[in-house]
Amino acid sequence: SRQPVPGDKFSFGLWTVGWQGRDPFGDATRRALDPVESVHRLADLGAYGVTFHDDDLIPFGAGDIEREAAVKRFRQALDATGLIVPMATTNLFTHPVFKDGAFTANDRGVRRYALRKTLRNIDLAAELGARTYVAWGGREGAESGAAKDVRAALDRMKEAFDLLGQYVLEQGYDLRFALEPKPNEPRGDILLPTVGHALAFIERLEHPELYGVNPEVGHEQMAGLNFPHGIAQALWADKLFHIDLNGQSGIKYDQDLRFGAGDLRSAFWLVDLLETAGYDGPRHFDFKPPRTEDLDGVWASAAGCMRNYLILKERAAAFRSDPAVQDALRAARLDQLGRPTAEDGLAGLLADGTAYETFDVEAAAARGMAFEHLDQLALEHLLGAV
Ligand code: GCO
Ligand code: MN
Ligand code: MN
Ligand code: MN
Repeated sequence: SRQPVPGDKFSFGLWTVGWQGRDPFGDATRRALDPVESVHRLADLGAYGVTFHDDDLIPFGAGDIEREAAVKRFRQALDATGLIVPMATTNLFTHPVFKDGAFTANDRGVRRYALRKTLRNIDLAAELGARTYVAWGGREGAESGAAKDVRAALDRMKEAFDLLGQYVLEQGYDLRFALEPKPNEPRGDILLPTVGHALAFIERLEHPELYGVNPEVGHEQMAGLNFPHGIAQALWADKLFHIDLNGQSGIKYDQDLRFGAGDLRSAFWLVDLLETAGYDGPRHFDFKPPRTEDLDGVWASAAGCMRNYLILKERAAAFRSDPAVQDALRAARLDQLGRPTAEDGLAGLLADGTAYETFDVEAAAARGMAFEHLDQLALEHLLGAV
């Protein structure tokens, strides 16, 4: 069905539908949304979860009374709608204090403050039942060469994540971290710019099992990378803890379009992958309804994200179950790729004359791979032409 239901596990950040349209060239085009209003609207649309940065829920600098009131109202909205909080995160980029980053700011005092701000919100995340804590290092980076000693900054990044992990273990929270890569914007160059960089970094931490990735569609595409390929590697490494779905058209500024806009073919392969791989985490939308829209347009955009996911899910399932596709997959020898190269072991491989001495290199080179026919079938399923 194309009507989203909680079982689809669609979630939205408060900052997505709540984006007021401020950009580097223009002022807000929409009024602020009350988080309580967003919770109700998202539940009505069929979402199951809502996520937030600390500052989305509790204004930066709020005192204890204001803080408690904001959390209480939010919790009441969750109870009233049945929405859950699968993930939370920290705003370490809006306030000018973070202009040179947070966990890797050159100023030690800023780094200590950033850690305390994060630890405080981890408590709230755990209290609200979140299982994933996202860390997007938007301002961890530089615009110029000597300004950042990248090796020292990575030491500080590791130190920060190790401390956060220690805290979660000591508190006994059922919470894992998901690092969100992005190549640039707002910094000229951001540390841990791609899924691959993040996966390699995680293996250097004290408790790698506590950390995975939260890849965002547009961020990998800003670097010209194949998003489904990055997701496949994250799944292969058992590190796809969370995902930020949105749309992006090529290598340019971070567009954060609604899911399905931008590179539609990539979105098709992404949904095909998530659904066939058995990913069972949230389908989280991190998009920005364009500033041309009023609030009706915001909710239309949010509904479109979910509807597009469900349509692509139908199309991908039809593609996989089509007998013509199954024949084409065999013709393209996908079944062979699934088979180990040397079940016979190294000794068997070395002893096998057909592997080398009598292998018909010319015949193998001449065989077509039949990928074009396969891809045409995929395109026709995507277009609904089958
Ligand atoms: C972006 C980022 C951010 C983060 C979010 C969580 O689009 O640049 O995705 O939106 O995901 O702020 O910290
Ligand atoms: Mn983005
Ligand atoms: Mn994101
Ligand atoms: Mn975003």
